[in-house]
Amino acid sequence: MSSETQLSLFDDSTFNQRDLIPTDAKIPIPANTYSDMPELAQHCNQCHRCGLGNNRTHAVVGRGNLKAPIMVVGEAPGQNEDETGLPFVGKSGQLLEKILASVNLSTETDVYICNINKCRPPENRVPTTEEMAACLPYLLEQIRLVDPKIILLTGATAVKGLTNDKRGITKIRGQWIEWQGRLCMPIFHPSYLLRNPSREVGGPKWLMWQDIQAVRAKYDEIKVSDK
Ligand code: URA
Repeated sequence: MSSETQLSLFDDSTFNQRDLIPTDAKIPIPANTYSDMPELAQHCNQCHRCGLGNNRTHAVVGRGNLKAPIMVVGEAPGQNEDETGLPFVGKSGQLLEKILASVNLSTETDVYICNINKCRPPENRVPTTEEMAACLPYLLEQIRLVDPKIILLTGATAVKGLTNDKRGITKIRGQWIEWQGRLCMPIFHPSYLLRNPSREVGGPKWLMWQDIQAVRAKYDEIKVSDK
């Protein structure tokens, strides 16, 4: 072997992290791995960092404005999402859209929607701590690429998956949390509202209405101060 060839073995300029298919949670996915969302989506669809990849029809990466100022993070795809490859397209997704529309927010302009886990857990069970940890690098890359000012975390699993805060959602909903320089608000998961539809003052739907108005107000405040 020529010394030229030998030397080239030490040249890692041709090695690209993006070429590494993440088949094991031990393979790191550092920040800046992906240059855009389609590249990240391609890896998610080949991913076996946890067992959830074995049963997926589609990895569910996200939908909405790729430069949205507001990101909504859910738990994991359900059946409709697994079939379509799009997050929040079932009943709870329809309710989420209505909640956003009630304060004039939409996925066309202001919002990007994604999940802690990209693949559907069997029987829609809650993803395990290991499954959430295996998928977290993708979410961190999505946050870097979209660069939202505000992140809404729907339900305790989303809060735990991103921030590791294990408190119950009724305790922390409606409170702003600062996470890595971004404003996050835990809110109820829409599926919880579907199970608890009462609109009485102090009930889940009423509380959600307070929270989404607070989100709208904060968004308007940020928009003004950015001008
Ligand atoms: N529930 C979630 O948390 N995410 C979805 O995408 C759908 C339902």
